[in-house]
Amino acid sequence: MKRRYGYITALCALVAAGAALAQTDDAPVKVAAPAGPPLPGAQTYTDNCQSCHGATLAGGRGPSLFADGLLSSHSDDALRQIIKTGIPNSEMPSFANQLNGDEISQVIAYLRIRGGQLRANPPFVPDPSGQIIHSQKQTFRIDVIASGLQTPWGGAFLPDGRMLVTERTGPLRIIDHGKLLPEPVKGTPKVFVRQDGGMLDVAVHKGWIYLSYTEVEPGVTPAPGSDVAPVTAPPTMTVLVRGHIRDNQWVDSHELFRAPSSLYTTTSDHYGSRFLFDGKGHLFFSLGERHNMVNAQSLATPLGKIHRVNEDGSIPKDNPFVGLPDAVASIWSLGHRNPEGLAFDPVTGNLWESEHGPTGGDEINVIDKGHNYGWGLASMGLEPGIFKQNMPNTDPPIASYSPTIAPSGIAFNVGDRYPGWKNNLFVAALAGQQLLRLEIKGRKIVAQETLFNQYGRVRDVISGPDGMLYVLLQSPTGGGTGTLLSAATEGMVIRLQPMP
Ligand code: HEC
Repeated sequence: MKRRYGYITALCALVAAGAALAQTDDAPVKVAAPAGPPLPGAQTYTDNCQSCHGATLAGGRGPSLFADGLLSSHSDDALRQIIKTGIPNSEMPSFANQLNGDEISQVIAYLRIRGGQLRANPPFVPDPSGQIIHSQKQTFRIDVIASGLQTPWGGAFLPDGRMLVTERTGPLRIIDHGKLLPEPVKGTPKVFVRQDGGMLDVAVHKGWIYLSYTEVEPGVTPAPGSDVAPVTAPPTMTVLVRGHIRDNQWVDSHELFRAPSSLYTTTSDHYGSRFLFDGKGHLFFSLGERHNMVNAQSLATPLGKIHRVNEDGSIPKDNPFVGLPDAVASIWSLGHRNPEGLAFDPVTGNLWESEHGPTGGDEINVIDKGHNYGWGLASMGLEPGIFKQNMPNTDPPIASYSPTIAPSGIAFNVGDRYPGWKNNLFVAALAGQQLLRLEIKGRKIVAQETLFNQYGRVRDVISGPDGMLYVLLQSPTGGGTGTLLSAATEGMVIRLQPMP
């Protein structure tokens, strides 16, 4: 059992240098990161374009290529064409002989990422209570359901209307019809809290409460102080359990998923994880690749995968890799980086997924049984060691986001509460600090809109039993706030109240 994971560890070391550079959802700001090689597109830009176009929004002899006006009015193909052929009778030269297709794609990705960084975010509005938003197809008011939460991560409703909310810092909280109970649920699993790690998703299904969280390898005592020094991080992993709450106490805890000790690793990011039930007896859940892209392509590890198990954790016989020697039998799809959103389309039944990609490569995918989504081989974003945007036999994303938005929880709007948003997909975004609305037709996104981007980090969106959308928010972290991107901050649950 142990042996077959050996090569993964070896490859892990190979990509470690590159991995440190990638910008992730919750990775700390770059303060502690060693200076590595610049991202591929950045280097191409500095070497070939900066002398004329400058390094800022001000431009130079040529116009700034980071301006929103230029980037939003030109498709990637249009930019590619200009770069290849140049602009006749101007100083803009042709790069057809200097840059190959991949280098041109990378420089375009860099323009979009850097452009987004250079354009300012709207100022943060700490109290959204009562704000009315006139969006394209639906006006709504923001009702604050409960505040005073620490980094709320996942939420689910109990049959009696109370809402369970996880705080990444560890506690499982109960919101009783608009009132956050002061006392967290007692006796929940002990979690490892750092960077992306902590108490993660919660789901309620057929009387059971499902929890996912990160833990330190059993039997390992973390060194004192290790919680503040990533270099001494203990080996950790995502664990899934289900249980009940009785007299405000976590009871009947049953383990649904625990990886072998050999897979516990000392990175503290990309744990996943999101739960989704298909109503046919199966539980889907996601696991990140723990910041080692090699994991995403190996069927011998559950990391970097979407999984499908029976509701009690056992393996369905019709899973795609059942019976394949050395394959983890719960795997449903592979090639994922850090998937944190799962939802079924109420119209087609398609399984939609959101995933934190590398810088500029965040993804929205439709997940098919046994398919490979490419992480580790190809990405629309920038990552040292990845040179292709597409590879044969891997599924390209339905949408990718550049600059990075860091998509987290996703949910379809079901029912009639919001007449303008029928069957739309909603995407919570952390670094992008926005709630996105996507109109879906089959497997295509036919329109998109940012509903708001001034209330901080958006962690999850939940379609409630009352047909209303509930959203988990967290005060901004990282760049400009004086905190690490992964810092725990105050958060709240809001409801989008439809208005005529
Ligand atoms: C020798 C100077 C020079 C260099 C080097 C150069 N450009 Fe340009 N570029 C220009 C000028 C000047 C223009 C404006 C041309 C005009 O429309 O008159 C321009 C225009 C463009 C435009 C169109 C802008 C618009 O508003 O429509 C794009 C895109 C562009 N450059 C991309 C690049 C990229 C990418 C590189 C590097 C790979 C690059 N350029 C290198 C001088 C340069």
